[in-house]
Amino acid sequence: MSRLVVISNRVAVPKARGAAGAQGGLAGALNSALKKHKGVWFGWSGRDSDEAAGTINMQRHDGVTTATIDLTSQEVDDYYNGYANSTLWPLFHYRLDLTRYERETGKGYERVNERFAESVTPLIEDDDLVWVHDYHLLPLAERLRSRGLKNRIGFFLHTPWPPTRLFVSLPFHERLVMAMLEYDVIGFQTREWLESFLHYCEKELHADIDEASGRITYQGRTCTARAYPIGIDWDHFQAQGETGEARQAAQRLLSSTRRRTAMIGVDRLDYSKGLPERIDGIGRFFDQNPDRVRDLVYIQIAPPSREDVDSYQKIRNELEQKTGQINGARSEVDVVPIRYVNRGYSHAELFGFFRAAKIGMVSPLRDGMNLVAKEYVAAQDPEDPGVLILSRFAGAAAQLDRALLVNPHSPDDLAHAIGKALDMPLKERRERYEASIATVRDDNVQIWTENFVADLAGEGEAH
Ligand code: F6P
Repeated sequence: MSRLVVISNRVAVPKARGAAGAQGGLAGALNSALKKHKGVWFGWSGRDSDEAAGTINMQRHDGVTTATIDLTSQEVDDYYNGYANSTLWPLFHYRLDLTRYERETGKGYERVNERFAESVTPLIEDDDLVWVHDYHLLPLAERLRSRGLKNRIGFFLHTPWPPTRLFVSLPFHERLVMAMLEYDVIGFQTREWLESFLHYCEKELHADIDEASGRITYQGRTCTARAYPIGIDWDHFQAQGETGEARQAAQRLLSSTRRRTAMIGVDRLDYSKGLPERIDGIGRFFDQNPDRVRDLVYIQIAPPSREDVDSYQKIRNELEQKTGQINGARSEVDVVPIRYVNRGYSHAELFGFFRAAKIGMVSPLRDGMNLVAKEYVAAQDPEDPGVLILSRFAGAAAQLDRALLVNPHSPDDLAHAIGKALDMPLKERRERYEASIATVRDDNVQIWTENFVADLAGEGEAH
């Protein structure tokens, strides 16, 4: 079996025994694939250091080798805060209004991709499979090829791919996609993003496309693009749900909400998640149903994210203001309609919160997949499940089409869905839950990893 080399912006370095319990589903799945393939996981350490930049820090824990490099503070600014998160992220989430095009940050992005290639090349052996992740590293295959690498190299995009008409607003868009075509396999979360990519390759690059197989032939080279919808780590999440920590979390939430129905949202504090729009929808619901302030409490868990980027600071302020307005207008001495929490919780605690909250609210304006939606379903009691309200613009909506699908831009649509979820009879809740649970359980992150790696290894139609 070939070794696997995973390359991503961030690396989940397992610190010690037991740390696996605290890491996310993707990190867990990649770690088990790496263990099986005796591989290496390479990426940025998350630190900036002008002295140690570029020095590789290798660690080995529990059969997995991680290799990380620091970046200089200038590189972090240009590559991470700049091109990745102020240009590509907003553009890929259809937010041209927030997309900044700066030549300097574009150059910094290319330099960091070059630095990644330079640092990781000596770690790659001839038969290794190389799997690159996400929008931070779109041109990495080309950088690796220019160093003579002949290995199979795959890429998975965790975000949406935007429609061609938006993507062409990116200066040097052709160069970026031409560099991507040096990958052998390119994976997207949904058919929608895949189709946008194929459309771009056909219309703008005049590449030869075979829609059925996803084969793209361009300047004598062929790569295959397919959809691989990511899933949750079902077994790990269920095991977390069995812990005392999960039970206590559920109990805490239930005893603090008493006769009110808890509705929960868990999102990184990111404008793509539609948080102010969601609060407007909740406000509309209370405007239309002022007496129901005693029936519903909304709990928003929103750990801060990418705080050095302007648009993230703005969204935080906006959210605080809107939450404050509704709470000011609707609170009673014993009732506060919205609880807004600016921190993260463990998987076990989240399981408990999801189990106790009878409505899950996931309303991104645009999202590659959204695993919170799947986790919410996974945490429900099959005998008495809660209701998932889900944006039709999340990748997850393609699989969870029996959730209450909403237009997250419409306060009326959100308000209507909240009322419907609050009043939904048990029979309908169960019917909707049963229509969703199989895909959440079976199309899990292990299957996703296996499917992608099988295609990358050229083992044919694994799925
Ligand atoms: O694709 C989005 C993503 O890279 C996720 O994989 C990850 O959970 C999130 O963004 C974290 O963002 P950051 O690394 O910038 O904190």
